[in-house]
Order: sequence, then structure tokens, then C-alpha cells
Amino acid sequence: MKLNWLIISIIGAVIPGSTFVESATIAACNILSYPPTTKNGTTDYGPSIWAAYNDCIKTKQSDVLLVPAGKTFDVNVFGTLGGSNWKFQLDGTLNFLFNPAVNSGTLLIWSHATNVTLTGTGTIVGNGALWRPNNSVTAYPSRPRLIRFQQSESIIITGKLVLLNSPMFHITLDTCNNSLVEGVRIVADNIGATDGIDISGNNNIVRNVAVQNGDECVTVKSPANGIFVENVVCTLTGGCQMGTFGATGGVAAVENIHYRNVTMIGSQTAAYIKSYPTTNGYIRNVLYEDFKVENTLYVFGINTYWCHGTCPAATGNLAISNVTFQNFVGSQASSSARPVVLLQCLNDNGDGCKDIHFVNDSVTSGKGVADTISYACGTGRPSLP
Ligand SMILES: *[C@@H]1O[C@H](CO)[C@@H](O)[C@H](O)[C@H]1NC(C)=O
Ligand SMILES: *[C@@H]1O[C@H](CO)[C@@H](O)[C@H](O)[C@H]1NC(C)=O
Ligand SMILES: *[C@@H]1O[C@H](CO)[C@@H](O)[C@H](O)[C@H]1NC(C)=O
Ligand SMILES: *[C@@H]1O[C@H](CO)[C@@H](O)[C@H](O)[C@H]1NC(C)=O
Ligand SMILES: *[C@@H]1O[C@H](CO)[C@@H](O)[C@H](O)[C@H]1NC(C)=O
Ligand SMILES: *[C@@H]1O[C@H](CO)[C@@H](O)[C@H](O)[C@H]1NC(C)=O
Ligand SMILES: *[C@@H]1O[C@H](CO)[C@@H](O)[C@H](O)[C@H]1NC(C)=O
Repeated sequence: MKLNWLIISIIGAVIPGSTFVESATIAACNILSYPPTTKNGTTDYGPSIWAAYNDCIKTKQSDVLLVPAGKTFDVNVFGTLGGSNWKFQLDGTLNFLFNPAVNSGTLLIWSHATNVTLTGTGTIVGNGALWRPNNSVTAYPSRPRLIRFQQSESIIITGKLVLLNSPMFHITLDTCNNSLVEGVRIVADNIGATDGIDISGNNNIVRNVAVQNGDECVTVKSPANGIFVENVVCTLTGGCQMGTFGATGGVAAVENIHYRNVTMIGSQTAAYIKSYPTTNGYIRNVLYEDFKVENTLYVFGINTYWCHGTCPAATGNLAISNVTFQNFVGSQASSSARPVVLLQCLNDNGDGCKDIHFVNDSVTSGKGVADTISYACGTGRPSLP
């Protein structure tokens, strides 16, 4: 279809052969050339990574920073990376040590970067459970995240990277364009704020990824125009959602979103769009296609009353239109007393959600609860006007 074509033609231009894992070249800046610090009995390779970046990538203009295979590097402190036209080759293991003094930030963060690739066969161990003592998500409320690119262009995360149990979110691409995330496997505790991949911006692709956690699987944030997500397996997780929009009074500007070939196992939702009722803006031209659903609580949803605690008054004007849920198979959790379809739209100017289509879906209901539909119209469900 048109959208895929657009994305692939743009991405294709900047990612020659992105699906294979290149081994490190001899020109690499190896972090082993930059000694770690040892403080109070803890060896920290964080300073080695940033020394290698500053000396070798920034100053000497080399283009590969290597964390070599076969070794586990404890990392305790971190700083901001950036730059353009270079590759972070992560083949070894980064073990992100629990440090209660580090109650913010992100292990690997890039801002305003262009043409940066993060690849390899390595693993990042987040030790998230230590930041959530007794499963508390409030003990360290600003605990660090693992990987973040913001306002960046032509970013590629590829290879066979494994991310284990981040203290908080795993991968965020915040308003990045023409970027790709593929081949990553994320496994975390079944607990909130462990988002797998959060993505916003224009013309981005996420494909061939697997996420197991207790929150978002692969989630579109605003603003977004042209996000294509395919071949995803979500185990547990909150589902492949969009939002939550407007939590901080914002505007949603989301269009041309396509999810294809997604398997949801034991998730809270399958395909779900959620916002506060104060949200303004639009969400349009969304296609969720070829979903296999197993043991999921909610299946299809557009919920403009999704709030932490009591929702504020419905003062928003969010135009949601042309959303299609196509070729969904499988079953809702047999214990689920929730509707398979929940469309709770804003009655802004009497518009609600328009052109909402269910095509060739055969997901069976748990306890047979009727669809909940308000202020939505479209086709494919008996109760949808
Ligand atoms: C040094 O390590 C000990 C034992 O792990 C710890 O209790 C102490 O807080 C540490 N001191 C500093 C300054 O990090
Ligand atoms: C992108 O970065 C790579 C190094 O990772 C470099 O070889 C390549 O020339 C860069 N591409 C462009 C278009 O600058
Ligand atoms: C963990 O939670 C249990 C049950 O709420 C409580 O009894 C216990 O004190 C908690 N332990 C810690 C270390 O907070
Ligand atoms: C992404 O594209 C949008 C629309 O063309 C543009 O406004 C924005 O500056 C771009 N962002 C980056 C990081 O290049
Ligand atoms: C669907 O995604 C799964 C999991 O990534 C993959 O194994 C399978 O080959 C994909 N199917 C198609 C038709 O692309
Ligand atoms: C509806 O959205 C799909 C993509 O999800 C797009 O291909 C189609 O052109 C849109 N239809 C209209 C009338 O905009
Ligand atoms: C309808 O869904 C079934 C799976 O239940 C699939 O085999 C079939 O190809 C779909 N039909 C169309 C026209 O896409």
C-alpha cells in the first residue's frame, strides 16, 4: 500500500544491508582502550564508553565504537552521546548497576543525532527489579531508562540486541524521522512503566521485534506521521497501543499508522487508542492488520476516557477517523468480562469517531459481554451505527 511504499523507499535509501549484523572492523574504537574507574570497590566502564566517544568518535572522527563480545562491563554512570555518521557496535554485555543515587536519566541517550546506528549481538542488563524493591514503582519514581534518541534523523537500531529488565522504559524514539528499529528482543518484569518501544516522528519502521513486559509493547506517541510496525510478538504487555494522549494537556497529531502481523499473548489489550477527554487534535488513517490474539483482556479499543484516576471533564476536541481493524483472529481471555470492542469517543461538536471499520475479524469473546460503543460510527459490528 501507499504508506509502506513511502516509508520503505525513504528508509531504503539510507540503510544499505541493514538486516545483517556486521562484525567490528579493525578501525573501531574499542572501549577496552579506555580504562574504567574503580570507586569504593565498583569497577565502572561508563567512563570508558564516554572517553571512547569523546576521543575517538568526536575528536578523531572514527565511525565505530565497539563494546567487544565475550565480556560483561559494569556501568554505573553515564552521559549524553550525540554526533552523526557513526555506529555503536554493542557485542558484549553492559550490566547497568543498581545505584540509588542515579534516579533519573537514560543509560544511552542521543539528542539531535543523524545517521547513527546502534547494533550488535550484545545484551544490556537493566537490573530493573533492584529499582523496584518489593515491586514498588514509587520507590525510585524517576529511575533511569535504557535507550533514547530524541529529535534525531536516520537512526537505526538493528542486529540482535537483547534488553533485559530496564528500571523503566526500554527504547524511546522521540520525534525522530526516517528511522528503523528491528531485531531487538526485550524481556522485563510484568510490571508498569517497562515500555518496550515508544516511537514518534515521521516515516519510521519497527519490525521483527519481540517484547515481554507489563506495559506498552510497541506504542505510537504524538506527533507521528507514517509509522509502520510489523512482525511483532507481544507477550503479556499492555498491548500495541497509541497514547496515552493528552495526559499533560497536550494535542494529538497522529496519522498514517500501520500495524501488520502482530501476535498478542496474554496482553491487556490488542489494538487500543487511548487519550484523556481533554485532548485536542486528530488521529486518522490507522490500519491494524493481521493480529493473532490469545488470552487478551480487551481486544479492540478507542478510549478517550483513559485516565489515571478520575477523568477531567470532556473539554477536548479530538477528531478520530478512518481507523480499520482487519483480519484479527483468536480469543479474548475466557475470564474476561470486558467487551471485545470498546469505542468510547468524545462527542465533540457531535462528531465522535468516524469511519471506524472492522473487517474480517473473528476474535471470540470471553464471557460474551456486549460491545460498548458511544459516539462512534462505521462498519463491521452489529452495534456500530
Ligand atoms: C561504598 O560501598 C558500601 C558497600 O556497598 C556502601 O554501603 C557505601 O554507601 C558506598 N559508599 C559510597 C560513597 O558510594
Ligand atoms: C552514515 O554513517 C556511516 C558510519 O556509520 C558512514 O559510513 C556513512 O557514510 C554515513 N552516511 C551518510 C549518508 O553520511
Ligand atoms: C513488601 O511488601 C509486603 C506486603 O505488602 C510487606 O509486608 C513488606 O514489609 C514489604 N517489604 C519491603 C522491604 O518493603
Ligand atoms: C522531522 O520532519 C519534520 C517534518 O518534515 C520536521 O519538521 C522535523 O524538523 C524533522 N525532525 C528532525 C529531527 O529532522
Ligand atoms: C509474522 O511475524 C512473525 C513474528 O515476527 C514471523 O515469524 C512471521 O514470519 C511473520 N509472518 C509474515 C507473513 O511475515
Ligand atoms: C484510510 O487510512 C488508510 C491507511 O490506514 C489509507 O490507506 C486510506 O487512504 C485512508 N482513507 C482515506 C479516505 O483517507
Ligand atoms: C479473513 O481472515 C482469515 C483468517 O481468519 C484469512 O485466512 C483470510 O485470508 C481473510 N480474508 C481476507 C479477504 O483477507
